[in-house]
Amino acid sequence: KDVAVLVPAAGMGVRLGGGTPKALRELAGEPLLVHACRRLGLAPSVAMIVIAAPPDDVAAVRALVPGATVVPGGATRQQSVAAALAVVPESIEVVLVHDAARALTPPELVEAVAAAVRAGAAAVVPALPVVDTIKRVDAGEHVLETVDRAPLRVIQTPQGFPRQTLVRAHAEAVDEHTDDAGMVERLGHKVHCVPGSDLALKITRPLDLLIAESLLAAHPL
Ligand code: CTP
Ligand code: MG
Repeated sequence: KDVAVLVPAAGMGVRLGGGTPKALRELAGEPLLVHACRRLGLAPSVAMIVIAAPPDDVAAVRALVPGATVVPGGATRQQSVAAALAVVPESIEVVLVHDAARALTPPELVEAVAAAVRAGAAAVVPALPVVDTIKRVDAGEHVLETVDRAPLRVIQTPQGFPRQTLVRAHAEAVDEHTDDAGMVERLGHKVHCVPGSDLALKITRPLDLLIAESLLAAHPL
């Protein structure tokens, strides 16, 4: 067990709606965060889970996930990850970052990402091919061009890093990034892809919650 997983869970879930922070929204009677952390806990490499919780819900999250370290999250995902990263002990050499919103991510994907970091990658991301036709448009929603989708990938979490690489990426980040591998890219490191999983979908809109219900029924733990 040599891996710490940081779980940004402090988002408000504006696109999902409902008024509750998204990580605390329930799927089959349990919060998304609980589903996510249970699967992380089943990955044999995981030594430590650090959750960045909505600041008002730190105590509630501690009660929901008793084994985890819980810190208050920040105003952006990047700030939430940085807050969680700050409490990872120096003895941990592999750090994964995993969205609470990817509640059904299988333990096997966690292991695959950790293994690729141990094998020497500076950054590891789960990737899936793009299935839709992609077009670039202008401000008036007129199509400028159809983009070749063959070299495009949809990127998921968990994303994995040697601890020092992630620490440096956060320390040197100047602008806001939607994922952590993007910050490591900016440092000039190569980012390695491993095959992603349909189960690792990010629950973002109401439709995703319906899809997740079906996926959970088909893939119980
Ligand atoms: N997140 C976070 N801190 C923030 C914003 C987001 O920890 N200030 C987390 C979310 O809780 C989620 C993950 O980052 O687990 C991915 O973000 P996203 O899916 O965008 O979640 P929300 O920001 O909650 O959703 P929305 O953008 O629709 O409000
Ligand atoms: Mg968001």
